[in-house]
This record gives sequence, C-alpha cells and structure tokens, in this order.
Amino acid sequence: MNPARESGVALVTGAGKRVGAVIARRLHAAGYDLALHYRRSAGEAEALAAELERQRGGSVLLVQAELAETAHLPGLVSRVLDRYGRLDALVNNASAFYPTPLGEASVAQWNELFASNAQAPFFLAQAAMPALRAARGAIVNLVDIYAERPLAGHPLYCMAKAALLAMTRSLALELAPEVRVNGVAPGAVLWPSDGKSYDDQQALLARTPLGRAGSPDDVAGAVLWLLRDAPFVTGQILHVDGGRTLSV
Ligand SMILES: NC(=O)c1ccc[n+]([C@@H]2O[C@H](COP(=O)([O-])OP(=O)(O)OC[C@H]3O[C@@H](n4cnc5c(N)ncnc54)[C@H](OP(=O)(O)O)[C@@H]3O)[C@@H](O)[C@H]2O)c1
Repeated sequence: MNPARESGVALVTGAGKRVGAVIARRLHAAGYDLALHYRRSAGEAEALAAELERQRGGSVLLVQAELAETAHLPGLVSRVLDRYGRLDALVNNASAFYPTPLGEASVAQWNELFASNAQAPFFLAQAAMPALRAARGAIVNLVDIYAERPLAGHPLYCMAKAALLAMTRSLALELAPEVRVNGVAPGAVLWPSDGKSYDDQQALLARTPLGRAGSPDDVAGAVLWLLRDAPFVTGQILHVDGGRTLSV
C-alpha cells in the first residue's frame, strides 16, 4: 500500500474510459489507491494507470475481467487484496446498455444485461464483504434514473438496473453496521458511445429542470461524497440528474 494513501483502496469496475475513468481519477486525487478493472478497453485502462502512477507511484493495480464469468469474481477481489492487503471501497460502475424491444428480446441479451448491471455487482460485493467489513468500508453502485422510470424500448436494461437498486437497499441492511451501501442514479451525463440524435438530446434536456446535461465529474463527485463524506448515509439512491426525476 502506498504510504501517501489517505482514503484507502478502491476497486472501480469498468474504469478504462468514460464515467468509470472519471470516477477513478477523482478517487485517486482524493488519496485512494486503485484497482482499475476493465474488460476490452486495455489501451485506455493502461494509459489511465500510467497517468495516475506518474502522479503517485504504486497506487494503481490493473485487473482485466469479463464480469459475466461469475466464478472468477472472488479471484478478482483476491488479486486486489494480494496487492494492497485491504479494500475500503467497491464502485460497481461497469454496465452494458442497449435497446431490447419487446418481441425481439433474447435470453442472451437478458444474461448480458443482468450480468454486468446486477449479477456481478452482487457477487463482487459478496466476495469483498469480509475485507469491506474489516475496513468499515463502503459500496457505491451506479444505478440509473431509468431503474425507477423506464426508458422506452429498454425493458431488460431497466429491469437489471432496478435489481441493482433493490440490491443497494438490501445490502445496506445486510452489511450494516460495518459497511455502507449506496447508489448514484445519473441522468444524462455522457451520451452513449453509439450516439443519440441531436433532436433526442434536445428533447431530453427540455425535460431537465437545470436545462443541461450533467458531466461525469458530477457523478464522480457524488460517488466520492458517498464513499468518504457521508458516514450516516446508507441504502440511499442519490439522483444526479439535474432534477429530471422531479417531473415525468
Ligand atoms: N452515461 C450516462 O449518461 C449514464 C446515465 C445513467 C446511468 N449511467 C451509469 O453509469 C455507469 C457508467 O456509465 P458509462 O456510460 O460510462 O458506461 P459504459 O461506457 O456504457 O460502460 C462502462 C464499462 O462497462 C464495462 N462492461 C460492460 N459490460 C461488461 C462485462 N460484461 N464485463 C466487464 N466489463 C463490462 C465496459 O468495459 P470495457 O470497455 O473495458 O469492455 C465499459 O467500458 C454505468 O453503470 C451506467 O449504467 C450512465
């Protein structure tokens, strides 16, 4: 463990790029040593690890894994413990997201969407439980406002995120008093990598009281707050959505 460490060790899944990478940078800047998980984004994850290592040597471990391979998840946690000897924070950020129109949805899509959005977060939390308890640590799950108000054409994604929301509350109960478990539910903070039309973006922003999209930094700030600065908060879902869930 790095002597400069102030906040502990955090495992962030899906941290190679996009929101996960911004969360990783924010936690690292706050003093966390990191286990950066990625699946296919090896180049981005390696570049991010190198950037953070330049800032603080010995502060990043890269872990590659397909999270759908549930049997490998305890091994992933073990690698973090072998390296750092402790785990203070688990951030379940990795996620598959795509439409599954009713009438066309397949079992393979069900399995893929539930694997990253619900199954892996649960089994990672279970594997990490002893270490998190010992560290009096915390879990933050990246949920979605669509867990509570479904996005048309995306039933399986919404159901998987709803399972993650239920898991957040359930594990908050199971892991108390040692471990706090909370969720962050972003609104639009980064358009999907396969794009969203300009008109769709404008329609969505028109339904957002703050009148703009958020940024990954907004989400990262909420994650850090829940992990580090909210010792009496557990089982909560923090909406980071510009007020969008205030009106339908
Ligand atoms: N972006 C938004 O505006 C928004 C809005 C609401 C909620 N959220 C939530 O916030 C989180 C981050 O959003 P994002 O847009 O940055 O996510 P993203 O780019 O869609 O996905 C993040 C990473 O998840 C990893 N992943 C997906 N399936 C995996 C699997 N089976 N095994 C291992 N890794 C897997 C991928 O890693 P590799 O690239 O390494 O394969 C991917 O880069 C997600 O949980 C998302 O649902 C985001």
